[in-house]
Amino acid sequence: TRVYAVIGNPVRHSLSPTMHNALFKKYSLNAVYVAFEVSRENAREAVEGIRVLGIAGVNVTMPLKEEVARYVELSEDARAIGSVNTIVNSNGKLLGYTTDGIGARRALERFTTLEGANVLILGAGGAGKAIAYELSKVASVVVLNRTVEKAKALEDFGVKGDALTPENLEYYLELADVLINATSVGMNEDRSLVPREMLKPGLVVMDIVYKPLITRLLREAKEKGCTIVDGLWMLVYQGAESFKLWTGIEADVELMRRVALERLG
Ligand code: ATR
Repeated sequence: TRVYAVIGNPVRHSLSPTMHNALFKKYSLNAVYVAFEVSRENAREAVEGIRVLGIAGVNVTMPLKEEVARYVELSEDARAIGSVNTIVNSNGKLLGYTTDGIGARRALERFTTLEGANVLILGAGGAGKAIAYELSKVASVVVLNRTVEKAKALEDFGVKGDALTPENLEYYLELADVLINATSVGMNEDRSLVPREMLKPGLVVMDIVYKPLITRLLREAKEKGCTIVDGLWMLVYQGAESFKLWTGIEADVELMRRVALERLG
């Protein structure tokens, strides 16, 4: 039996075991996926544990994504953003990848074309950075962040960074084809960073938050005639990309979403 795991803190609400175990079953793989709660101080020992226990693959979540990047061999994308969410154990050699950006990209591509699009991202934390880096490969990207320095720091990727002010929001939203909330605003709260009157029909709006599944931003966007992409699509696609790295199989994303939704209740 091959063992896969997610490490992070907290992890007990992680949907990854649910999604990946459903995939192992569907593809008749002799494998199991479990969750290990690991604090930041223990990141290094946890990585050593993966090696000595021969764990086949690992997802890395908050707050370990940056820390773990110090202890594994990095893919080009993982090195660029300094973050790892997927480890592949290749005969004892641990390879670190990031699928957060590509997950967001695949989720969006399900609903729209990104080539040449104007994308506005709110938030320059770990998630915003990963998404901005990936989308800047094909689209024109602007990132607005409350702490402006963090947005400016992303200019290395060829994205424009600016402060998250009402004026900037209005200005860049006017030009945008795609809007992404990559902040934690809206998580377990009925709050949105975007005044509803700024949302226009035809805009594609994605939220990385998936609790609630339909955030206030997405609800108001839908009411205004926008195309909405919820955070569960991003989660499902980043998981599917991890699964592909581990098994070579293109995962059934509908199945992953279905079991995740059941678990969310
Ligand atoms: P993650 O890895 O999920 O991106 P993070 O690195 O802690 O988490 O980033 C959280 C993001 O949400 C940041 O962009 C943060 O803005 P700051 O960099 O200014 O802290 C943003 N954020 C959180 N609460 C916010 C709020 N009330 N208004 C605006 N932005 C907020």
